[in-house]
Amino acid sequence: MTAKTVTLKYDGREYEFPVLYSTTGEGCIDISKLRAETGLTTLDPGFGNTASCVSKITYVNGEKGILRYRGIPIETVAEKMTFVETAWLLIYGRLPTMAEMKKFSSRLTNNELLHEGLLHHFDAFPPNGQPMSILSAVVNSLICYSPEIMDTTDEEAMRNAVAAIISKVRTIAAFSYRKAMGLPFVYPDPARSYCDNFLHMMFSIPNKSHQPTQEAVKALNLFLMLHADHEQNCSTSTVRIVGSAETNLFSSVASGICALWGKLHGGANVAVFEMLSRLAKGDETLDKFIERVKRKEVRLMGFGHRVYKTFDPRAKILKKAVFDLLEAERVADPLIDIALKLEEKALNDSYFKERNLYPNVDFYSGMILRALRIPLNMYTVMFAIGRMPGWIAHWRENNEDLRRLARPRQLYSGPVETPFVPLDLRPDEEL
Ligand code: ACO
Repeated sequence: MTAKTVTLKYDGREYEFPVLYSTTGEGCIDISKLRAETGLTTLDPGFGNTASCVSKITYVNGEKGILRYRGIPIETVAEKMTFVETAWLLIYGRLPTMAEMKKFSSRLTNNELLHEGLLHHFDAFPPNGQPMSILSAVVNSLICYSPEIMDTTDEEAMRNAVAAIISKVRTIAAFSYRKAMGLPFVYPDPARSYCDNFLHMMFSIPNKSHQPTQEAVKALNLFLMLHADHEQNCSTSTVRIVGSAETNLFSSVASGICALWGKLHGGANVAVFEMLSRLAKGDETLDKFIERVKRKEVRLMGFGHRVYKTFDPRAKILKKAVFDLLEAERVADPLIDIALKLEEKALNDSYFKERNLYPNVDFYSGMILRALRIPLNMYTVMFAIGRMPGWIAHWRENNEDLRRLARPRQLYSGPVETPFVPLDLRPDEEL
């Protein structure tokens, strides 16, 4: 794997560090012995230059706009696969056989119900409780009702835990919506597929079963697949770090849900919608808004990415899918026109060109959810359901490969030593 080295000159001495290459050629300096040999650490705020692990799961090339799950291009995943199949691929490392798919699907069905005791938790949340908060709390609480699923040391137990999370997170998400709307819970229907079942739990009422169109089920599959993994992003790194303390899978992914919530990460899909809705009111022209973005008073939400310096391939797929779904469902969405105009203006503006700012996955994802009648406060929850296979795959890989507690260093910039002053002798200072 390694042939080249880099030389570091410091304090009159030279140190050599190996360069490791990814299977596609990108290089990486292995500094794992840096501190031991030189007494130095590295400073990389935001980790823009730091590979935290070696991973076989997902490949992203930000310069060329490439995304592959276990080597399969995202365009192929989007066209030919379902979310459940994608989950298996990410977690187990290859495409499943027909028999493996059937077994996985039946495990998902067997796990789709929640413990009745867990349902009381929903009553404790206020009616307008944030679904992301409910989701993370209830996912973390799953282990209270089935403590045996915490032990994932043997493969069979792991397979059950995987199915339990992927299946139950969908039920929890739908129930948190029903609770917020003051509607009765609709239990999952074992005869339905994963996405069909979610839409059933969201929108059926006791005496009228919701039958989503094929296009709606397809669009939901697509949305979830496109969000299924994206290598070492903020929430996935969180899951890996928490998991490195040998924290159980359920609590680790619950922390991933919290990390995803932020508006610079998964919460951006809500922020995009809010931005487009404000612009749709017409109080501010698009040109004036773009000027404010360029003055850095606001960010153009759904634009820019830490890794992609060209089009996010998921944004391209979603943009087309939005039009397909709106046409199939025969609905119009005025926000689409605003989004298209905003995109065009940004792509032709030197501020965005110079900084390589292009639409990311969140720019159009909200449009799909809107067409599916998913309410705004559920957008990031939908992202979390989609990202679950990725979090699980990374938690597993981290636990199998590294088994080392994640513990970054820091460059301390505080006082060297502060003299202690007893409380009654300290001068009053208003903060
Ligand atoms: N609008 C306006 N300017 C932007 C934007 C934006 N959306 N994104 C980056 N910039 C500017 C920065 O101000 C900076 O300008 P400068 O060089 O003059 O200082 C330059 O572009 C580089 O930006 P950074 O913040 O260094 O880029 P970084 O990689 O840290 O940020 C991020 C990536 C957080 C995604 C950023 O582009 C952003 O805030 N985008 C909007 C929020 C968003 O859509 N998030 C979803 C990301 S995808 C996901 O997580 C699923």
